[in-house]
Order: sequence, then C-alpha cells, then structure tokens
Amino acid sequence: MNVTVSSGAVLGIDAYRVEVEVDISNGMPAFDLVGLPEGAVRESRVRVRSAMKNSGYPYPLYSRRITVNLAPANIRKEGTAFDLPIAMGLLSVLGVLPPTYLNDVLFAGELALSGEIRPIRGALSIAAMARKRGLSSIIVPLANAPEAATVDGIHVYGVSSLGEVVDFLLGEVDMQPLEPSMGWEEPPNFRVDMLDVKGQEHVKRALEVAACGNHNILLVGPPGSGKTMLARRIATILPSLTFEEALETTKIYSVSGLLQEQGLVRRRPFRTPHHTISNAGLVGGGAIPRPGEISLAHNGVLFLDELPEFRRNVLEVLRQPLEERAVTISRSAITLKYPANFLLVAAMNPCPCGSGPQGCSCSSQEVHRYRSRLSGPLLDRIDLHIQVPAVPFHDLSDSRIGESSAQIRQRVVISRDRQQQRFASTDIHLNASMEASHIRDLCPLPTPCLQLLERAVQRFGMSARAYHRIIKVARTIADLENHSEIQPNHIAEAIQYRSLDRRYIL
Ligand SMILES: Nc1ncnc2c1ncn2[C@@H]1O[C@H](COP(=O)(O)OP(=O)(O)O)[C@@H](O)[C@H]1O
Ligand SMILES: [Mg+2]
Repeated sequence: MNVTVSSGAVLGIDAYRVEVEVDISNGMPAFDLVGLPEGAVRESRVRVRSAMKNSGYPYPLYSRRITVNLAPANIRKEGTAFDLPIAMGLLSVLGVLPPTYLNDVLFAGELALSGEIRPIRGALSIAAMARKRGLSSIIVPLANAPEAATVDGIHVYGVSSLGEVVDFLLGEVDMQPLEPSMGWEEPPNFRVDMLDVKGQEHVKRALEVAACGNHNILLVGPPGSGKTMLARRIATILPSLTFEEALETTKIYSVSGLLQEQGLVRRRPFRTPHHTISNAGLVGGGAIPRPGEISLAHNGVLFLDELPEFRRNVLEVLRQPLEERAVTISRSAITLKYPANFLLVAAMNPCPCGSGPQGCSCSSQEVHRYRSRLSGPLLDRIDLHIQVPAVPFHDLSDSRIGESSAQIRQRVVISRDRQQQRFASTDIHLNASMEASHIRDLCPLPTPCLQLLERAVQRFGMSARAYHRIIKVARTIADLENHSEIQPNHIAEAIQYRSLDRRYIL
C-alpha cells in the first residue's frame, strides 16, 4: 500500500515540488528514507515516530517495513519541512485518513516529538510554487502562515499540531483559510529622522544624491562626527518598497528563516554586519548555500561601519555583486544565484587614531597602511566619497529645525520617477546602473562640461571608471534639479564627491 503526499523545498529563493511517497509492506521492521536526504531530513524518521505516538495515532510496530521516497530523487533535500507530509502519508496508509483527503493539498512543517508543529524556512516560496502548480490549499506551521498568505489564489491554513491537521482534514474541526495579506499598508514611521542631525548640510545633500540615483557612498570623518548617525538615516529618505520589491525581499527573509510571524517585509532592509563577518556570512554560503548579508540587504541598504576593519578578502568578494546586483555561489553539488541589489553605505575614520589632520598622532606609514586596506577597485565602485568633519558647536546648539526626512524623500521620489522615464526603453531603472553605452546615448555633455571634466581627470589622475562615475552622479544632480541636460555646476559638484581619487582625505 502506498500513498503520495505533495510537499516542497527551496532551492535559492524559489521552491520546487517534492512528492513524498510513503509505502508500508510486511517484512523486517525498518524505516528507509531515500531521495538524497541530508542531516535533518534523515532525522525526520525519529521525529515523525514520536510525534505520531504522542499524538495518539497507531505507529507500525511489528513486521512492517516503511519506505519513504522524496521525489525527484536526484536533488539533495535539507531542512525539516518533510516531517509533516511524511506523517500524513503514514497516517493515510495506516487508514487514519482516506488518501483522497490528501489530494490537492500541499503540506510543509516540522514536527516536535510531542506532535506540535514548528516553523520552517521558505514557506512563502513554497506557497507560490503550490499556486503555480494549481493546488487548492497549503497547510503550513501557524508561524509561517502570514508569509504564505501573501500569495494570492490559494487557501493557506496555519496549524499548530499534528492532531489539529488530522481533525481538520476529517472535518471534525472547522478552520478558515488565512485572509490573504495583500493589502498594501505603509509601514509605521521610522524612529529616527534627518531632523535629528544638526548642521552637516553637505553630507545630507550627498545622502540625498545617493538615495536618488542609488549611488554607493563612503563617509570619512573623525569619531563622533556623526557618520553612523547619518548613515542610519539614509533608509528614512528612500522611497517605500513597491509590492514587487517587498515580495522579492520577503522571499529572501523567508528562505533564511528570519520572518517571525510576519507577512511581507514592508520596509527597506538596513543591514549592518559587524566587521568580523566571514565571506560566507557576507555573500552567502554553506553546503546548500544560504543568502548572506548582501542578499538580506536586497532592495535596501548595506551599511559597513568602520570599513577598513573588515578583512580585505571579505571586501574583495563584494566587487562582483556590486557590479551584477546579484551573487552566484557555486558548491560542488549546486550553483545558486541570489539577488543582491543594495545601496552600499560605508563609514571610516581618516586614519587609525581617528582624529584627522588636527591632533593626529599616526605616522604617515600607519595612515598609508590603514587606507591601503581599501583596494582601488573597491573605492572605484563607490560613487560618492564624503568628508564628515566634526560638528562645530554653533551647529549643535542651533535651535533651528532643518528639513525632515519626509521632505527630502519627496524629492527623491520625484527624481526617481524622472530616471524611470528616461530608462523606460532600457533594462535599468536608476542612474547608478548606467553602463558606458547608456552614458553615451542618454547623457550628452555640452562642451563646457567636457572641458571641466578633462581638467579634473588630468589634475587628479582619475581612472576611466571614476570618469564615468562622475557623469552618472552629475546626471543624478541634474535630475534633482529637474534639468534635462547636465550643466557644468552639476559636474563640479560630482567631482567634489570623489575626494579619495584626489589621494587626500580630510
Ligand atoms: N550633526 C549632529 N547633530 C546632532 N548630534 C550629533 C551630530 N553628530 C554627532 N552627534 C551625536 O554624536 C553621537 C555620536 O555620533 P556617531 O554617529 O556615533 O559618530 P561616528 O560614527 O562618526 O563616530 C551621536 O549619537 C549623536 O548623539
Ligand atoms: Mg560610528
């Protein structure tokens, strides 16, 4: 006698269907689990046995051989989501549930020994796959139900114990599917605001330019000058997530198991990994690779505070995702691609002691060694290098109120719309993503601009990449001012934002 139960597993950020085939035959007592189960899947037998016994269901004890196959059998399976479908299959072959009750339903959930159901990773992607495959319902752990319910067109039931699932399928208890959480509400207000920052007008301006064109930005200044404070506020001036962006980001959090009884991620992520982070932690990794910080920052901000403290090889692995806005991780068995479209915000002191030219006690070698931890190619990928001097006392004590994040955000939104119109016929959306061909076709430069650029390149010995970065940033500044053509003052401002190319910091 055998029964097949539908389930799913994630690969990257998408799910694929797994058919759990359960068979019981006479023979020596045994429980074989095949179909490339990895660690936790293999242990599933133990959890299923205890959960069934402790929920009061019969468990085949004598002269019964259980075989479970996870099809397709050639993909490695990991995680704990197969516990529930295996138990459902066993209950069905044992006659507790008619097999037809399992048709058209997808099951995913981890079992505790007591029979309780625990959360799993990737419920959103599994629900999306189930809908695509035309299944009518999905039964998932209660804590995962809100994320699964962001998928429209499929009934999502959240359950908390094995007994509850059986009673529901037998019609002994009534359960309503979760209301789809499709309604798009604005997230609550931020707790911080640009208003909190006194003075530093040029830094706020640079953050606005960064937010408009999605330009990576590096803040350089002595300790206490407010770098961390300013960086944390960049999230408050970015436009809200669109529904599609929210769904993409939520999928990444779902497969990482980071959603806690939460539906959509409605706010742009702001990730601040510590400088001791490993390569795998930053870009993703593991035997079956999981998303790293750069993917958790997808559609949001990756803030690397104290940039030179990060290990150099960790910073080098950032280069490819910064260009491709995605990361490809290869392991012997598998190659996965995770999205990683983030705005990089970095902060550093001007020298190891941090005091800058005034009162600095570092030798020139120490300063050189400190700065050389950042490679030229990495700095080249950061469009804006901003000096953040200590705040003068009269700015700190100034009682006048500056612009709020909401006011700045309004300008960012308008300027992003303008960019979207310009790039309507291309595959990019924001100025920072422009390639040389976009710059040639979409950013014609009047002669005075070209002359200014030529002088800057010669004087500061800038690379070709830096040259293109200046034009991109100038385009964003022009967009902020609603100019269809780049003007010399836009170029001049953009050149100012490349202070590290001038081999000079503070
Ligand atoms: N421009 C400013 N306006 C108001 N408070 C500031 C400003 N700059 C710094 N501060 C205060 O100084 C503290 C330290 O700033 P922080 O961002 O940690 O500096 P850094 O990261 O440059 O070392 C902040 O928490 C804030 O209270
Ligand atoms: Mg700081």
